This record gives sequence, structure tokens and C-alpha cells, in this order.
Amino acid sequence: MKKLFRRKTIQSIQDYLEAGHETHLKRSLTAFDLTCLGIGGIIGVGIFVITGVAAAKYAGPGVILSFVISMFACIFTALCYAEFAALIPISGSAYSYSYATLGEFFAWIIGWDLVLEYVVGSIAVAIGWSGYVVSILKTFGLELPVWCSAAPGSVPGAVINLPAALIVLVLTVLLVKGIKESARFTVVMVFVKLAAVLIFIAVGFSKVDPANWHPFMPYGFSGVMTGAAIIFFAYIGFDAVSTAAEETKNPQRDLPIGIIASLVVCTILYIVVSAILTGVVSYTELNLPAPIAYALQKLGFHWGAALVSAGAVTGLTSVLIVLLMGQPRIFFSMSRDGLLWPWASKVHPKYKTPYRTQILTGLVVSSCAAFIDIGTAAELTNIGTLFAFVLVCSGVLVLRRTDPALKRPFRVPLVPLVPILGILFCVYLMISLPTLTWIRFGVWLLIGLVIYFTYSRTHSKLAPSRL
Ligand code: ALA
Repeated sequence: MKKLFRRKTIQSIQDYLEAGHETHLKRSLTAFDLTCLGIGGIIGVGIFVITGVAAAKYAGPGVILSFVISMFACIFTALCYAEFAALIPISGSAYSYSYATLGEFFAWIIGWDLVLEYVVGSIAVAIGWSGYVVSILKTFGLELPVWCSAAPGSVPGAVINLPAALIVLVLTVLLVKGIKESARFTVVMVFVKLAAVLIFIAVGFSKVDPANWHPFMPYGFSGVMTGAAIIFFAYIGFDAVSTAAEETKNPQRDLPIGIIASLVVCTILYIVVSAILTGVVSYTELNLPAPIAYALQKLGFHWGAALVSAGAVTGLTSVLIVLLMGQPRIFFSMSRDGLLWPWASKVHPKYKTPYRTQILTGLVVSSCAAFIDIGTAAELTNIGTLFAFVLVCSGVLVLRRTDPALKRPFRVPLVPLVPILGILFCVYLMISLPTLTWIRFGVWLLIGLVIYFTYSRTHSKLAPSRL
């Protein structure tokens, strides 16, 4: 039993970082860069696509409330992430935090579970990207045949979603070659997508017809909750800030600022956008691949629709890059710790990237994006991410007990209340997801357990035979 809970000590990780082994990366990022990186990873399919589906099918205009409920789960969890990120500023994110708090077994589960956030999340974003590109091409009179532009079952006649599959392959090639999302590149992308959101707000604001907000909760409060569990996807990404820990100038101060500031900015925008979207058109019309562009078209702002679509495609590309880059790094950390096969931590001799896991990730994401529908992918991403959030909040509670005297540069206020509320909100959202999503999630964890007990436990660098 003890073996399952063996853990790295915080001291050992901090010594490791101080000795400077950890990285060949330059510490150049500031709080502002981190905030941009966070926004770069957050604003994407959630607001540009899923808001429409959530409003039309589940929450109605009550989707505004769905955003508020999901926000609470994220704010409480973000505070917990900030405490860990400042304490253990190492890449690998939630996986590394749990290795130092809850022990190896939970670290494994969280690492395995994060595949759902990064790999399955990338699938959903690629599908959303395809939806916007198809709609832009249409405005230019180029109509892609249905059979090759959507997943089977999503539209009559659809066979394969080729744009989604192709964008993933293209980005994978770039990432293998080592395209780094340099701070400046991220800032440009962030400003383009923020501009898209602000154009929508500016144009839509004066066209709101409050009659569209009635009935506010056409599917009742349970619809609002299901909506919250689905649009939770929109907030995913603030945790990606913590993966840049080893490239941050002053991580103890700047990581908490980056995590919390990016989340606050996005939350405000989401609530305003969802209010305007459901205020300018009836929620019943929003079950579309590009609902925001549709709303502007309907209001007669064709130029606005084109600009917003272009901004959305840029924004979705940046999210896709962040997610596709995140996965190989987590596999890399797990393989470095001996929990996955050593081939996963091989770095490309010329490009210095974890090319094997990058290519594997790209092939899996690309082939799934060709055939899966966005709802299925988003729900599975959400359950996996919510579960990781529950473990991060629990980690704060555990570490406050096991190492109360540690010097914490950032402390979650009102412990244990805030982590407990984080756990409750996340569990509540998980419960609101469909049974089929739970089954898929269970199967995924089972596969993980089999790998842990047949390989990782004995090959871990912390296994007694390897110490
Ligand atoms: N939050 C990111 C998005 O909505 C994952 O695309």
C-alpha cells in the first residue's frame, strides 16, 4: 500500500530547480506574457461554438447563468493551482503537483487523465476550427461538399471531417520542427481573437432585444446545469499557464497573477458575449458550427461576421497549438519519472522536441477529429479536466496537513473552505454530464490502471529496486 503513495518531496523538487538542471529554456516570461498565454489557451471553441449548442439544446438564455456556475468551479480551482504553481514551479502541471502531495498512484491517474484534457480537447477544438473555416469559405462562395466537411452522423451525407484532420497534421509538423509559441506570437494571436470578441460585443450590444431572453430557462434549472457542465470547456486552458513555470522570470509572483488574471478577463468576456448572443437572436437558432458569425450575419453585419470568423479561426489555432504542445510535455515528464516507456522521452536530435509523442498525439487527434462529433469530444474533455481539478484542490488540503510549515509564496485564502468549494463545484458539474461520458471516462481510467500495475509501478524511478 505504501508503494502506491510514495511521493517526491517538495524539497527535492525545489533543490532540483535551484540546481538549474531542470531546463535549457530561457526564463523570459513576465506576468503580462503569462496572462496572454492563459488567454491564448482559454478563448476558443467554448465561446465561439459551444455556447450556441449549450443555449439551443440545454440552457436557453440561461446559458449566461451556466457560465457563472462554471466560473465558480474554475475560480476556486485556479486559486489552488496558483498555490501549487508558486510552490513547485515545474512544468508537468497537475501531474507534478500530485506527485509531491498525493503520491505516485494519484500522480499516475492525473497524468493519464490529463490526456483527456489535452488530446480529446484538441479533437474538439479541431472540429470547431473546421466549422468556422467551412463557414468562411462559404461566404466567399466556396462551398465544400458535405461528405468531406463534417463527421458522420452530424449532418446528413457527412462521411469525414477533412479540414479538422488536416489542420492537426499541419500543426503537428510545425510543432515537431519546434515552432515555439514565442511570447510575441502569442500576444498577436491573443489580440486578434480579443478583437473578434470585442467587435461582436460592440456591434451586438445595441441590437439586443430583451424579448429574446424570455423564457430565461426554457429547460429548467437542470438544463442550466447541463449547460454549465458543457460550457465548462470554454474555461479550460488557464491551467496551461502553469506549464510555462520553468520559463518564467519570477514564477512565485507571476504564476498566480497569470493564472488568475487570464481567468478573470475571460470570465467577464464570456458572460457579456453569452448575454448578447442570446439577446440578439433566439436561442432556438443557435445549434450551429459558427453561432457568433451567424448572429452577426442575421443582423446584417456581413463584414462583422467575416472579421469575427477570421478572428475565431486565429483564436482556435492558438488554442490548438497550446493543447497539442501540452500533451507531449506531460508524457515526457511521466516517462522521465519512469512511469512510461523511455522511448516517450526521446528528444529529436536536430529539433530538440519530444517528437515521438508529438507525432503520436497528432495522428490520434487527427484521425479522431475526422470522425467524432464535437459534443462527444467536449464532454469527455470536461469530465477528465474536472477530475484533475478535484485532485488539485484535494492536493492543497493534503499538503496543508502534511507540510503545514512550507513557505508558500502564494496561499489560497480561507482554507479549507475554498478547496472544498472547488471540489464540490467540480463534482457537481461532473454529475451533470451524461452517463455515456461517465462510462467512457471509466473505461479510460481502467486502461490506465492496467498500465500502472503492469508497467509503471515497477519501472518508476522511485521504485525501491531503482533507487
Ligand atoms: N477553452 C478552450 C476552448 O474553448 C479549450 O477552446
